[in-house]
Amino acid sequence: MVTAGAPAPATVDLGDPDTFADHDLDGFWRTLRDTAPVYWNPPAGGRRGFWVLSRYEDIMAAYRDDLNLTSERGNVLVTLLGGGDAGAGRMLAVTDGRRHHELRKILQRVLSPRVLSDVAAAVRANTRRLVREAVEAGGCDFAEEIASRIPMTTISNLLGVPEHDRDHLLAQTKAALSADTEDVDEVDSEMARNEILLYFMDMVEERRAAPGDDVISMLVASSVDGVPLSDEDIVLNCYSLIIGGDETSRLTMIDGVHSLAARPEQWRRLKDGEVAIDTAVDEVLRWASPTMHFGRAVVRETEVHGVRLRPGEIVTLWHASGNRDERVFERPGEFDLGRTPNKHLAFGYGPHFCLGSYLARVEIAELLMALRDFTTGFEQTGDALRIRSNFLTGFSTLPVRFRPDPRSTKEAASQ
Ligand code: HEM
Repeated sequence: MVTAGAPAPATVDLGDPDTFADHDLDGFWRTLRDTAPVYWNPPAGGRRGFWVLSRYEDIMAAYRDDLNLTSERGNVLVTLLGGGDAGAGRMLAVTDGRRHHELRKILQRVLSPRVLSDVAAAVRANTRRLVREAVEAGGCDFAEEIASRIPMTTISNLLGVPEHDRDHLLAQTKAALSADTEDVDEVDSEMARNEILLYFMDMVEERRAAPGDDVISMLVASSVDGVPLSDEDIVLNCYSLIIGGDETSRLTMIDGVHSLAARPEQWRRLKDGEVAIDTAVDEVLRWASPTMHFGRAVVRETEVHGVRLRPGEIVTLWHASGNRDERVFERPGEFDLGRTPNKHLAFGYGPHFCLGSYLARVEIAELLMALRDFTTGFEQTGDALRIRSNFLTGFSTLPVRFRPDPRSTKEAASQ
């Protein structure tokens, strides 16, 4: 059965970033979940074909299965289809087995809530300042002036990037990671990536000479099986914190504000304290699902719903669908800030479960609290531009107008 109004599966190519431009794939995903839970996206546009998992339970099982599936040949379509990831075996997300386990223990330590308490306090101060200023000004492009400035500041604090280098690093990161937007070409983004790696190479050298209490200094002092991490391993993993932590959190915050602006009744529940902030954060994450998919390569033959997946084939796990699976979520197409339980897949699952989930939750929670405290409401005042990608989903601009909450004047005056 094909859901009414949904495009026929054969006309949808999930490898093509343009497929997501109109973003109306809900019917397509429902059709896949109901009729083809292990779907073959045929080769197209010079790209290989790949398997598509759309049901929540199948995605969880694939995330758990590090015996038959590997991340070491890439974990997103662009690298899986492009023939691999240059960081394989060294960068956490694309490393498996014992080395992954050991490296993860090190990074888990530096990203634990206890170590992050200063970083979390800085997120709060930074977010409240940005939101308060924008509310006082009446409005802003939320994407550019607020959401862009939270995750990168957070990661810079974490890594100990000095204040005067931050704008430069932010510009390089945007160029490096936004190869999917029209105005940045692949050569520029490659150069920006190299600049970032060189920048961190210098920082590693500096921290070796004079350690501080930042993540780089902690990595410099860490070893796997008695062998200290090399400069390159440290640099690659610092870079992966930027890749993992910047755009994902930014897109989630933008989507949260976009969704709340369109649903005043949900905003009221937040404003009136009817829903717990942590519960609201999870629904914002489920709803945004900023990483539409992750993927794996098959290393040993395995079977899902009677379909054989063979070594060398690519399997993609679609959060965009799993987080709307009606087998798991009641009224999955409803944005409900009070939703419990809400075991969404936004942070993945299993051995590679997102290491930055605590930090991302802190960022989103602080944003929701700042909005709740400084404004009585807000509306979108112009078009929101969608990013062009087969991996990430969300907006790069979001013009909004804020209505100040007079009760917050007291706090502003005291700061
Ligand atoms: C892994 C999502 C924020 C660092 C992952 C994975 C997902 C994810 C789905 C699993 C990838 C896989 O299995 O192949 C998100 C989302 C975020 C977010 C939706 C924000 C809303 C962050 C932040 C950081 C971060 C803030 C760091 C500061 C990482 C790292 C990994 C990872 C290092 C690799 C973990 C491993 O392979 O063991 N993330 N992430 N993420 N994330 Fe996040």
